Amino acid sequence: MNIGSTTAAVAGSRSRITSHSERTPLLSVVPTRRYSRRHRSTTCTRFCYILFQVTIFYSILYLLVLIPLRILPEWSSPLKWRDIPPPHERYPLPKNKDLGLERLVKILDETPDAAKAKQWSKYYTSGAHVAGKNYSQAVWTKEKWESYGIKSEIVEYEVLLNYPVGHRLALVERAATGDAMEDDAAAESGKEKPKEDKVLFEASLEEDEVPGNEFSQSKDRLPTFHGYSANGTVTAEFVYGGYCDYDSFKQLDELKVPIQGNIVLCRYGLIFRGLKVLGAQDRGAVGVIIFTDPADDYPDGWSGGGGGNGKPYPEGSGRQPSSVQRGSVQFLSLRPGDPTTPGYASKPGVPRTDEHEAIPSIPSLPISYLDAAPILKVLNGWGYQPEGWKKGGLVDRGVDYWTGPVGFEPERVRGVEASKPTKTGSGKPTKTLLHLENIVEYTLTPIWDVIGIINGSISDEIVVIGNHRDAWNAGAGDPVSGSTAVMELSRTFGEMLKKDWKPLRTIILASWDGEEYGLVGSTEWVEEHRAFLMQNAVAYLNIDVATSGPWLDAASAPLMYKVFTDAMKAIKDPLAGSKRDLIHKGESVRPVAAAMKPVIPDSEGINVYQDRERDHNRQNYKGSIYEIWSKGGGIIQPVGSGSDFVGFQDIALIPSSDFSFRQGASGAVYHYHSNYDSFDWMEKFGDPGFKYHVAAAKLIGHMVLSLTETPVIPFSLTDYANFLEKHLNQAIDFFDKTAKATATSSLTTEVNSDINIIKGVHRSRESLTRLGEQIAKLKKIAVQFDEEAVALTQEINDLDPEVPWYRWWQSLHYWAKVKELNNKIQFFERKFVYEDGLDGREVFKHVVFAPGLWTGYSGAVFPGILESVESRNWTNVERWSEIIQKCVIDATRSIELDRLNYKP
Ligand SMILES: *[C@@H]1O[C@H](CO)[C@@H](O)[C@H](O)[C@H]1NC(C)=O
Ligand SMILES: *[C@@H]1O[C@H](CO)[C@@H](O)[C@H](O)[C@H]1NC(C)=O
Ligand SMILES: *[C@@H]1O[C@H](CO)[C@@H](O)[C@H](O)[C@H]1NC(C)=O
Ligand SMILES: *[C@@H]1O[C@H](CO)[C@@H](O)[C@H](O)[C@H]1NC(C)=O
Repeated sequence: MNIGSTTAAVAGSRSRITSHSERTPLLSVVPTRRYSRRHRSTTCTRFCYILFQVTIFYSILYLLVLIPLRILPEWSSPLKWRDIPPPHERYPLPKNKDLGLERLVKILDETPDAAKAKQWSKYYTSGAHVAGKNYSQAVWTKEKWESYGIKSEIVEYEVLLNYPVGHRLALVERAATGDAMEDDAAAESGKEKPKEDKVLFEASLEEDEVPGNEFSQSKDRLPTFHGYSANGTVTAEFVYGGYCDYDSFKQLDELKVPIQGNIVLCRYGLIFRGLKVLGAQDRGAVGVIIFTDPADDYPDGWSGGGGGNGKPYPEGSGRQPSSVQRGSVQFLSLRPGDPTTPGYASKPGVPRTDEHEAIPSIPSLPISYLDAAPILKVLNGWGYQPEGWKKGGLVDRGVDYWTGPVGFEPERVRGVEASKPTKTGSGKPTKTLLHLENIVEYTLTPIWDVIGIINGSISDEIVVIGNHRDAWNAGAGDPVSGSTAVMELSRTFGEMLKKDWKPLRTIILASWDGEEYGLVGSTEWVEEHRAFLMQNAVAYLNIDVATSGPWLDAASAPLMYKVFTDAMKAIKDPLAGSKRDLIHKGESVRPVAAAMKPVIPDSEGINVYQDRERDHNRQNYKGSIYEIWSKGGGIIQPVGSGSDFVGFQDIALIPSSDFSFRQGASGAVYHYHSNYDSFDWMEKFGDPGFKYHVAAAKLIGHMVLSLTETPVIPFSLTDYANFLEKHLNQAIDFFDKTAKATATSSLTTEVNSDINIIKGVHRSRESLTRLGEQIAKLKKIAVQFDEEAVALTQEINDLDPEVPWYRWWQSLHYWAKVKELNNKIQFFERKFVYEDGLDGREVFKHVVFAPGLWTGYSGAVFPGILESVESRNWTNVERWSEIIQKCVIDATRSIELDRLNYKP
């Protein structure tokens, strides 16, 4: 303190006061120093005041916003908010707008590349890679993904597989001893009489080495055989069983064609090959031969000879005559995956059950039509030519497609033309038999799935993309075209990751092993992680044969119809401008979800867009895949079986999709599971220029982006409800028809049982009606729910591109809303679970979807009901109707909007 200056100032002012005159005003203005202490005090108070205000403001805000958000939902919804991870900065309002969906789509449109696709195709097709035999391809796939910045690992399972050792098929003539019983005994026991058997025809069982086709000349190529076929040698009489589907066998039973103790020749097509073997085995057959009939390559008109538009491969696009379709004969509709570990993962040391519930106990072999013709010809004139059986393409080679067996003179059966034998059979001194050797080696062996993960901002909402890697041979179409598409997609993800992309939802990439034997790699993985997947997965997108031609064939769970068609609309068809023939609906080709003659009626898909024409006029999809697809029918099939989505869709109830570009009606014949499904064929005929490989990568990429990058999961619950409604109506139609037929046929039986039947029919019919009412309720609520979801999506899209940090409550508000909707959307399909599983095939847990019991490939809808109606078990129809009704009620409750506390 400066005492001197203070004294001087006081003295100064005093002197001014004392020197006043009369004019001096009474009140004078005395200049004073600003009072600094008072100034300091104001600032502090203001600061404290503001601090106080802010505290009060946020406390009120907390009370008004946070408390209701955190507590109220616990009272009104089953959601446990404390279990939910804290809002991520990017959820649901992406801050990173410079890498928004539009930018990502642009990268997706620009990255996949035909030259690269060709390179990957060349790599994967250059070496043999049957399940469990090529570890280096697993390592290569893993390393590629890691080079794109995707963390990956190889997951190993130890599974039962068989590999071919030797095979032989011959038509032999055995001198009869004259004693029929002794002959039969000899035939049945398989005892050889080599010296007396004269070989009439020796099947080559080899596919020709073709110039220009490297793989067909490779020493590593796999002999022709059936995966999971039984080891064994038999010599027996033989019959022809047509397609060997449910109906054909029923007809053979009615005609009393002897199958017991004989070998059955079956034609590929209509149903999964393992079920042909199952049908024969159930009737006591001792072996099965399955051949490819060339007529099935040209369903729109077999013109004979080379057929179609050209010469056989390699000169033209027709079928190479020696080509053979390998493949698994597992009973796929009963149980996929390792046959020794139903319902759990095949890790080393786990207990194993008897595999023969799921795979055949009689030997079988696949053959070409060249090998089939001489054998079928022997049957000419014996047995029947059953009504409604399609003749095949071997007519030119003298085959008349009789059932046989040789020497079989049937009685005339009601309504069926009996054969008029042209030869004398029973009196013949010799017997014509078929000698079948199938030597295979069963072994427990490791297989390798490759799993890659891109962590998203939301870790408990996961989109899985899968494709298998194993092939019977080169497998340029099956599955290399799919693996190539997935590789291009992962490279695209790599480009996005380079720009600091973090997807909103987590992405898992899978390269499965062991698919060809029975979806082994994927099923074991799903079995190992079922609880986790059911809790976290949003969708599974499968791709298998990405392309063998230019026509899209699509299958999907109804929830994803819109995701699928939106993706189709976004992509240009590579051949949009050029002329093309009609879509192929062939049967000999592996169908994604086969066009089939159903045992149980209508498993066809839903035509999602009835007003397609209007749709086209209104919007510009010119040249898009959607436009071309809808011209070719525009149907999305339900997912059936035959590829890796089965574990996801039917066991873990995760909405799945699958697609394949297939050949046109007069396009190149796809040499499915043959040596000629090779790089050379693909380059020349399947997809010249690898354009559809690229289109497939983009199509699946679009689906992934719309599933991972939109805040509200873009599923349509309305589509699901519509689907249930349509298929329930079909099931009821089938019920009514069957019930009517039963009533008529039971008129002659006892009155008592009649009354019981009528009661049972009545009760189950009423139950189905109630189920219909529940589904109608579900539909009403699903429509409201979808409107709400669309409105919320719109609201979020309309927000400023970036929500500033200080409006954090806005982020929180939307985060809470979106999370609650997503929880309902994500678990909607899971409500249709029935943990006890379907009757007789307990691994399948979905009450709406399952592989068709007697088709394998195509899907059955409401399998419980349809199978019970089929077997006329009316109490069981009622039981299933009640089970499904419970699921529908659950699903309806889970999405009721008045349970949402923020209802506008
Ligand atoms: C595995 O595949 C690669 C590439 O296709 C090939 O080079 C290699 O020879 C194959 N390995 C075996 C054991 O067949
Ligand atoms: C496979 O069958 C043949 C006879 O058909 C038999 O000699 C061989 O021992 C069998 N192999 C196995 C592993 O059972
Ligand atoms: C992804 O997330 C998991 C679990 O949150 C973590 O263990 C893993 O390291 C993450 N991976 C990458 C590549 O960041
Ligand atoms: C019909 O289904 C019931 C179960 O609902 C089952 O107990 C019964 O054995 C079945 N009847 C026949 C004849 O299969």
